[in-house]
Amino acid sequence: MEELIYDGTMRILSGIQPSGTMHIGNYLGAVKQWVAYQNPEAFYCVVDLHALTLEIEPEVLREQSLDCVATLLAAGIDPEIATVFLQSHVSVHAQMGWLLECVANFGELSRMTQFKEKASRQKGYRVGLLTYPVLMAGDILLYDAEQVPVGDDQRQHLELTRELAERFNNRFGLTFAVPVGYVPHAAARVMDLQEPERKMSKSISSPLGSIYLFDEPAEIEKKIMKAVTDTDGEVRFDPKKKPGLSNLLEIFSSFDNSTPQDVAQRYERYGDLKKDLAELVVTSLAPIKARYHELRGDPAELDRVIAHGAKKAMATAEPVYRRAAAAMGLI
Ligand code: TYM
Repeated sequence: MEELIYDGTMRILSGIQPSGTMHIGNYLGAVKQWVAYQNPEAFYCVVDLHALTLEIEPEVLREQSLDCVATLLAAGIDPEIATVFLQSHVSVHAQMGWLLECVANFGELSRMTQFKEKASRQKGYRVGLLTYPVLMAGDILLYDAEQVPVGDDQRQHLELTRELAERFNNRFGLTFAVPVGYVPHAAARVMDLQEPERKMSKSISSPLGSIYLFDEPAEIEKKIMKAVTDTDGEVRFDPKKKPGLSNLLEIFSSFDNSTPQDVAQRYERYGDLKKDLAELVVTSLAPIKARYHELRGDPAELDRVIAHGAKKAMATAEPVYRRAAAAMGLI
């Protein structure tokens, strides 16, 4: 995965699963970058089809999809500038998924780290869990995306997308733009506060391990004050030797747009760092939370945004689907 200098006009696509309240890993690793890079060429997709690979109640999925759209808007994405849409509203995503399933092979999908992890936790896992990265590749290729801003855990899926695009182009003629992943400098992999060797995650998390965007201030403070660090007492950025403390420094620097090293220089004691970090996180999330509740209280506006997004997304994605289908010989 390369890092390009973003020039403000590139075609961007990224996605997020509507699988519960976002945590600060999703926010700092992805959504904060989406806000910064939004432009008329940016497409942000709530991947509800991907969420079907999880055990999720239909009513819960419906609510979480709306929550997710509202959270993206509350975080600062302007739907009149960028396109925000639900994946299932743009039917060519599922269709493109099929075309690419006929290009991908079983071996490469069964080697995906996320597949292996998730499959080992589910008895009789769904086929969708295996083919998930192919659907994701389709999400990206349908928009001729040049850049895909994601957290570090999506690197392997991005590589597969590039591989499938190149394989398709070689076999059927130049059809797809080959996208480049973009991972932020800080907080590309926010770690669990209790088990700093594991990434912060919605699915497996210790009770105090993840900070969710809409946690109460007292909860945020408790989680940060109890975050696991080490006993040597020196405030220094060293992810290998001091994973817990370095994670806090990364979170701090991402919220205040500095570097973890800069933040480390400002503190001598873990307790002071944690206290200020808790305050910083609470004050940074407060306006997002307030805006989220406003948006969630206005279902008509949310419906309007979703319908508007679907129309814009379809207008871009459908011609690309037709191009790919025709290249493969479909009439
Ligand atoms: P998802 O829903 O798991 O996560 C959404 C975004 O959040 C990032 N992220 C993190 N970043 C830093 N630290 C963490 N602990 C952390 N946890 C999650 C993820 O890297 C991601 O950028 N397969 C994707 C969704 C998807 C997608 C796409 C992404 C579907 N189609 C097309 C990009 C392009 C996923 O499950 O993300």
